[in-house]
Amino acid sequence: MMSDRARRKLLVANWKMHFVRAQALEYLRVFTERVRGVQKTEIVLAPPFTLLETVGRALHGTGIKLAAQDLFYEREGAFTGEISAIMLKDLGCAYVIVGHSERRRLLGETDEIINKKLRAALDAQIAAILCVGETLEERRAGRTHAVLETQMRGALAGLRLPSPSEGRGDGGEGECLVISYEPVWAIGTGVNAAPEEAEASALFIRELVAQLFNTEIAQRIRILYGGSVKPENFGGFVQQPNIDGALVGGASLDPEAFAQMAKIAERL
Ligand code: 13P
Repeated sequence: MMSDRARRKLLVANWKMHFVRAQALEYLRVFTERVRGVQKTEIVLAPPFTLLETVGRALHGTGIKLAAQDLFYEREGAFTGEISAIMLKDLGCAYVIVGHSERRRLLGETDEIINKKLRAALDAQIAAILCVGETLEERRAGRTHAVLETQMRGALAGLRLPSPSEGRGDGGEGECLVISYEPVWAIGTGVNAAPEEAEASALFIRELVAQLFNTEIAQRIRILYGGSVKPENFGGFVQQPNIDGALVGGASLDPEAFAQMAKIAERL
């Protein structure tokens, strides 16, 4: 059950805190042209909040989907500076990244906060891309799987995921949750995990999803790898039986490089 290749490949660009409108539009001019004809692979762009409307408009009719990089868990109210799931939905976001390690590390996001954010995304029918991953220290101590398990159990505690056949989520496959394995030591460092190592973690995550939910959800859920992915190493990851795509930071800022990855995914 653990290598169901019926899952559609998914490629997500996390632009992080990059680009103003003119840069985003120039990027899209090049990128949309290059990926014309890519159909089997689902492509998602996650620009900063300030660009969601501009990018959303420019993507109209391309089949490329929009994601936010974060959300706040309350619906509305006195929460200065925060953005709700409903606001993201209003701008046409199909996905939202939740629990990125940069937010865990720099902004003190805990598994409890992440759990509330996931709940808010699910309620608004925005598919969440949950990020999990160990630090270098944790990896050296042989704690990778223990850390993944703690993060997953904490983030998903008490959540009811509709079974994929209910098709309730807004993600490309009607799902409401994607998990991205992003070892912290591989993010922005140029040092990627070995594909086999990432596969071992992806398999661990899939088996845990089966335990926490059920085997149907585990078979259908898409698991991404993130951390120094670029065109030269991308193929090695998506060929792994339990890795369904990538969450790309730095290399996604180059429209040529990101388009190249979409074409590689399309051929595999
Ligand atoms: P890099 O691709 O820059 O290593 O970033 C990965 C990441 O954090 C994606 O969310």
